[in-house]
Amino acid sequence: MNLSTLQIPVEKTAHSRLADVDFSNLPFGKVHTDHMFVCTFKDGSWQDPKVMPYQALSLDPSAKVFHYGQAIFEGMKAYKDTEGGVWLFRPEENQKRLNISAKRLAIPEVPKGIFMEGLKTLIQVDQEWIPRSEGSSLYVRPFIFASGQGFHASPADEYMFIIACSPSGAYFSGKLGVRIEEKYSRAANGGVGYAKAGGNYAGQFYPTQLAVADGYQQVIWTDDNAHEFIEEAGAMNIFVRIGDTLLTSPTSDRILDGVTRKSILRLAEAGNIPTEVRKISVKELIEAEQNGSLKEMFGSGTAAVISPISSFGYQGRRYELPELENSYAAKFKKQITDIQYNRAEDPFGWRYPVK
Ligand code: COI
Repeated sequence: MNLSTLQIPVEKTAHSRLADVDFSNLPFGKVHTDHMFVCTFKDGSWQDPKVMPYQALSLDPSAKVFHYGQAIFEGMKAYKDTEGGVWLFRPEENQKRLNISAKRLAIPEVPKGIFMEGLKTLIQVDQEWIPRSEGSSLYVRPFIFASGQGFHASPADEYMFIIACSPSGAYFSGKLGVRIEEKYSRAANGGVGYAKAGGNYAGQFYPTQLAVADGYQQVIWTDDNAHEFIEEAGAMNIFVRIGDTLLTSPTSDRILDGVTRKSILRLAEAGNIPTEVRKISVKELIEAEQNGSLKEMFGSGTAAVISPISSFGYQGRRYELPELENSYAAKFKKQITDIQYNRAEDPFGWRYPVK
C-alpha cells in the first residue's frame, strides 16, 4: 500500500439517519453517525482501509478480544466553526498514543497514513453530523481490537481498526464530587496504566460504583503502593491549584499522557502561571484545604475537556471547595475551546483543518 497517495474508498449509506437526530438534546456517545472507518490486520499487514455504512460487526466467539481483552482506543473531537470549517485538535498526538498503547498490548502498530487519511475521510463524509451548539462536538473514537480467533492466551493474528463517531453533548452534568481511593488501584508500575487499554476503564467501574453509592461521581486514583499520592480523576488527568500554583502529577507507567493535560501545561507556561509537575500527596491536599490555600481542583480529558471538582471525600469526610471567580479551570477551558472551535488565534498550531 502506498501511504503517500492513499485514497480511502467510501461506500455511502443509502439510508441516512441524520434527520432523526435531536441535535438540541445530545447525550454523550450514544448516537452514531452514518459511517465508520474500518481497516483489518491480517497476513502480517494492515489492509483494505475503507469508509462504509455504520453497522454491527460479526465476530467469532473465540475472538481474542472477548477472552484476553486485547483492545485499545483513543478519544478525539471534531468541531465546526461558524463559517462551516471543520477542525480537529492535535490529532497527531492521538495517532502517536494509539501506537504507544498498541505496542504495550502486543497489537500491530497502525501506519500514520492510514490513521490520518481514514480519520479525515470519515469526518468529511459525516461532516453534517458535527453539532454546532456550544459545548457539543463530534466525539471521534478510534479503536483496535483482536478479532483473530482461538483460546490460546497469546496475541491474535488478526485485528480490526475502526473509527466511529458520535455527535455528543457534555460528558458530565451537574457538580463533580470525587472520593480519594484508599483500597482499589487503577494502575501499577510496569502495568498498562499509561496505555488507553479498554481494561483500564473496566477496572474502574466497580470502585466507581462504590463511590457513587456514597454520593460521589468519580474516584480520585492514588498510587497503588501506599495510596499516598493522587494520580488521576476517574478517566481524566487531575490538576490542583494551591495558592496560585498549578500542580499536576507527572506522567508515569500509571498515568495517561493526556492531550488536554499537556495543552493546559503549555497554556499555563505561556500565561506565566506558576506550575509544578510533581507528586501531590493526599496529606498536602488536606493541609491546603484546612489552611485555605486549596483554591481549586479539576479533571482534564478529551471527553470532559475541563471539569471543575466541587468536593472531595477522604476517610469518611467530605471537603467542599469554594466557588471561585476567575478560576484557572474556566480560563483554560475558554482558551482551549476557543482554539478548538476556531474562535481564537492558535499560536501553538494545535488546530488541524479537516476541510
Ligand atoms: C476521553 O476523554 O476521550 C476519554 O478517553 C475518556 C473516555 C473514557 C470517555
